Amino acid sequence: MTELKTITIIKPDDWHVHVRDGKILEKVIKYTAQFYKRAIIMPNLEDPITNCVKSLAYRNRILNSIKFNSTFQPLMTCYLTPFTTSKELEYGFYKKIFVAAKLYLKSSTTNSENGIKNINDINHILQCMEDISMPLLIHGEDNDKNIDIYDRESEFIKNILEPLRKKFSKLKIILEHITTKDAVEYVKKHDEQYLSATITPHHLMLNRNDMFLKGIQPHLYCLPILKKRTHQQALRQAVSNGDKHFFLGSDTAPHLNKNKIHCFGRPGIFNAPSSLLCYITVFEELNALKHFQAFCSENGPNFYNMPINTETVTLVKKPFKILNKINIGKKKIIPFLSGKTLHWSMKT
Ligand code: DOR
Ligand code: ZN
Repeated sequence: MTELKTITIIKPDDWHVHVRDGKILEKVIKYTAQFYKRAIIMPNLEDPITNCVKSLAYRNRILNSIKFNSTFQPLMTCYLTPFTTSKELEYGFYKKIFVAAKLYLKSSTTNSENGIKNINDINHILQCMEDISMPLLIHGEDNDKNIDIYDRESEFIKNILEPLRKKFSKLKIILEHITTKDAVEYVKKHDEQYLSATITPHHLMLNRNDMFLKGIQPHLYCLPILKKRTHQQALRQAVSNGDKHFFLGSDTAPHLNKNKIHCFGRPGIFNAPSSLLCYITVFEELNALKHFQAFCSENGPNFYNMPINTETVTLVKKPFKILNKINIGKKKIIPFLSGKTLHWSMKT
């Protein structure tokens, strides 16, 4: 019998996850904890994580939800509101309660009602973050109602990010879950110490045609929305070159099925059960496996000035069937690629 192909890499980190709270948290956290050593936890709960006290309590709830022996570390972030104070941020950052702060423009995505209406309202906060080298994580979409949904990212770069970077050129920024050629090009132009970007598995694997294949597919609706194929190709090209500006951030975002299949269906793709296996699938397709470890396990910690993990994981070229659903009491969550088979699995 021929040996199965295997790849061993430094244990990866996921630099962008939504794990929610309560019963959903209890069910979903194990999927992130099985693949990743650390994960940046998004603060957009219904009651957002806006201060140190809430963050410490949420971190405990996350750790208490992990039922197996695990060394997983949640890395917490502060949700910026018009009422955030520099004192709170600075204290949280120095005490290692927060590793970063997250910028949502008001009403741009799930639970962003408490976000920022005008970026100039938080100049004092951005100045403080630049001074203490605290990373700013950005949901980069200009949600002005006159801007086409497919142009929100490129308009954000022009209208908001570029002026912001001119004012705060030493602020460490991560443009989260980029989806366009415009973002790839913009990020690449700048020093990777100050500007980098995360890329999701779904934006690497899919484009907007997939969202309308055989009818509208609510489980593929996320924000930023899937873009056209040329943008998908630009993202694939970006990761296949091993560029240090780009790293893994799955944006796994579970929603109950009833809230996805709804007349106001919510944005978000729950990819945690397969995210790492999706990434390796893409890197293999691109003949770029030599850059896989840097994308998963090195570029992220280097940007955040954190140590590179010492544990390893081994992936095996063996079929892996993604579960159909997870039950949350009588309700359910449908994962990304539900019921489909990937060619890679994790060695246990
Ligand atoms: O698709 C998304 N889902 N994009 C976001 O920005 C938020 C996330 C969520 O929290 O559901
Ligand atoms: Zn997100």
